Amino acid sequence: MYESTHRCNRENGVGRLCSDEIVHQPVLCPAILNNLHYGPDAIVVDATVGQAGHALALAGRLGKDGLLIGLDIDLPSLEVARRRLQQVDCQIKLLPENFARLDEVLAELGVGQVDVILADLGVNSAQLADPQRGFSFQLGGPLDMRMDDRLKVTAADLVNKLAEKELADLIYRWGEERFSRRIARAIVVRRREKPLTTTAELAQVVLKALHITGPGRKSRIHPATRTFQALRIAVNDELASLERLLKITPNLLKKGGLVAVISFHSLEDRMVKYDFRQNKQADCYEIVTRKPIVADQDERRQNPRSRSAKLRIAIKK
Ligand SMILES: C[S@@+](CC[C@H](N)C(=O)[O-])C[C@H]1O[C@@H](n2cnc3c(N)ncnc32)[C@H](O)[C@@H]1O
Repeated sequence: MYESTHRCNRENGVGRLCSDEIVHQPVLCPAILNNLHYGPDAIVVDATVGQAGHALALAGRLGKDGLLIGLDIDLPSLEVARRRLQQVDCQIKLLPENFARLDEVLAELGVGQVDVILADLGVNSAQLADPQRGFSFQLGGPLDMRMDDRLKVTAADLVNKLAEKELADLIYRWGEERFSRRIARAIVVRRREKPLTTTAELAQVVLKALHITGPGRKSRIHPATRTFQALRIAVNDELASLERLLKITPNLLKKGGLVAVISFHSLEDRMVKYDFRQNKQADCYEIVTRKPIVADQDERRQNPRSRSAKLRIAIKK
């Protein structure tokens, strides 16, 4: 999954090691390039530029009058993107912005409608691999999960402060976890002794709540996956941001412009699917991907993260 590069000893502005030890391998890149057609002078928005994996490929097709606008809420990733995009000919604007504000960002840049909007949702490999970010239960680290350091509430705050019912509802709704009540109960019992502060502690509580103690789990998926997913979605308000992006996108695209969204779990994919369908009914979009495009066997083997990726594309009419 990872292409490792040189070690980086510099610190970013917020005191973390910078994230270019791990380079994110973009998913479904050939499908993106085969389906997103635009000219050399186009304006292309990568709403989740990350480490510029897709952006490099997209910018490679733009000439010197073309413009690539990249947004990300993760400052270390933007720094990596900035360095990697130095090699392209087109104009580049990289901004530490949430894509939920894309309409305001474009207005501030004086940009009208654009030719392409790509959103590759979720976290990137460098964020996942940095224990200090608290996204992974396999690496010990603080229970943080904020993609954007400017956010105030961490996963530890939610786990230690929400009422049991709120916690259960959150884990059920955003983790689609059928044992949410049992997990919420176990968290509340455990935090009475001592607040939960690390990813490892939370993963242990989930395993215990599900009566899974040793090796020999049947599923390929770690039992804490859904609980972690739910907390990450809540901390970053991910679905509200996606909902807003989907809502503003039709007005931001030129006629014939393309929107492409790569999602990694069913909640996101459902939102994209319904949004495209509604816009089709309103005669605003033509859907390019009747079924979502998924990774082929080679890509799945090389990049396990691609296994859950679903790409949907629509054209503005
Ligand atoms: C899957 S990665 C994208 C990787 C990128 N396509 C590449 O090839 O390097 C998702 C990125 O989106 C960013 N992100 C997530 N939610 C965001 C939001 N609401 N606004 C802007 N960026 C967001 C994350 O910080 C992460 O860097």
